[in-house]
Amino acid sequence: MRRQWMAAVAVTVAGLLALTACGDGGGDGATQSPQADAKKKVEVFSWWTGPGEADGLKAMKEIFEKQNAGLEFFDAAVAGGSGDKARALLTTKLQAQTPPDTFQGHAGAELQGYIKAGQLEPLNFLYDELKLKDVFPQQLIDQISVEGQVYSVPVNIHRSNVMWFNPAVLKEAGVTEVPKTIPDFVAALEKVKQKGKIPLSIGSEWTMVHLLESVLLGSLGTDAYNRLWTAGSDWSGPAMTKALDDFKTILSYAGDPADDWQPAAKQVADGEAAFNIMGDWAYGYFHNPPDGGLGKTSKTDFDWAPSPGTGGTFMWLSDSFTLPKGAPNRDGAVAWLKVAASKEGQDAFNPKKGSIPARKDADTALYTDYLADALKDWGGDKLAGSIQHGVVVNDAWRVAINEAVGLFHGDKDVAALQKALAEAAKNSGQ
Ligand code: GAL
Repeated sequence: MRRQWMAAVAVTVAGLLALTACGDGGGDGATQSPQADAKKKVEVFSWWTGPGEADGLKAMKEIFEKQNAGLEFFDAAVAGGSGDKARALLTTKLQAQTPPDTFQGHAGAELQGYIKAGQLEPLNFLYDELKLKDVFPQQLIDQISVEGQVYSVPVNIHRSNVMWFNPAVLKEAGVTEVPKTIPDFVAALEKVKQKGKIPLSIGSEWTMVHLLESVLLGSLGTDAYNRLWTAGSDWSGPAMTKALDDFKTILSYAGDPADDWQPAAKQVADGEAAFNIMGDWAYGYFHNPPDGGLGKTSKTDFDWAPSPGTGGTFMWLSDSFTLPKGAPNRDGAVAWLKVAASKEGQDAFNPKKGSIPARKDADTALYTDYLADALKDWGGDKLAGSIQHGVVVNDAWRVAINEAVGLFHGDKDVAALQKALAEAAKNSGQ
């Protein structure tokens, strides 16, 4: 495990150096010939460096290289789950007009931010050529379009509101039923605490916002949660106070924050912690063989259920790839987008990534175990959009929420958190 983390750090440094190297956008060509390089290399910017998620990227890269003998996949991934660090760097690169050839962006408000800033090329030509409007769900296409122009290629659907748990730890603590409501969850956390295990594992700061979105959904209910992103939103009322009180209670059972989502999830799989609320990329990490994942046994080492109070609702997010204006290797980027859009690419990527395909015509036989549940629920559940993963809030609003939650982690002041969240909503300009 340690080695995998070292590898992830090494990739980060390599990624940063590469970004710096590419950051001159061709420069004056005095010392090298970046333009010649740009013809072959395709710089793919993502944050999939860590154990579990890098496996999915690798599977797609292999198909890309097989189909494009003249092109070289250049991995410009920047470490850090959920991409907060990657996006900060990307903003700088986009502002300096030195974009990578293609970058990862979340469908929804986050992508709309890039579109409004004029940073992306529309992809209607690709959608027409590959008939992509027939293969992606219309509601997903709506999230990546403005005025009839489509701006990215979605590769997957992830579920955010998953409660992962260790069945043996629950049993040992006398938790006989998987908690379905927030009060039942709190009772279970208390029982685990009495046994001396970590009731709830948690990672770096963004994982607390990830937890918050599940608690808001579970406490407010789906319709009220979905109204938060509309003109009639109510961030100051008693239902929100109650939801934030629930958040405070649940957070009081969290262990020491781990470095990122992987070590927090691992505490559950290793039987050190009972619960972890995390997106289903955790499935890829738990399940993939030990050279990338943990090689754990489903239903024995880990199990899953909707996060408390959210059964019947699929809190979704989708990773998509873009064509930034001024991409140094535009043709190479289009070649990447074609693989990302294809059935073959999606069916190689998603089973490893712990996600289900964005395409409607994927080979369902490949999606077994947890992924079969996800496919079924995506087809039948109500939908809600993720906060932390860019569906319902743009990046500026997400940063304001992150800051409020960061302060709350220190002072535990519910009134101050509610005020800061209401301010963030008011100032969002969304
Ligand atoms: C999300 C992303 C997922 C996964 C996760 C953890 O934002 O959409 O694909 O990478 O972060 O890093």
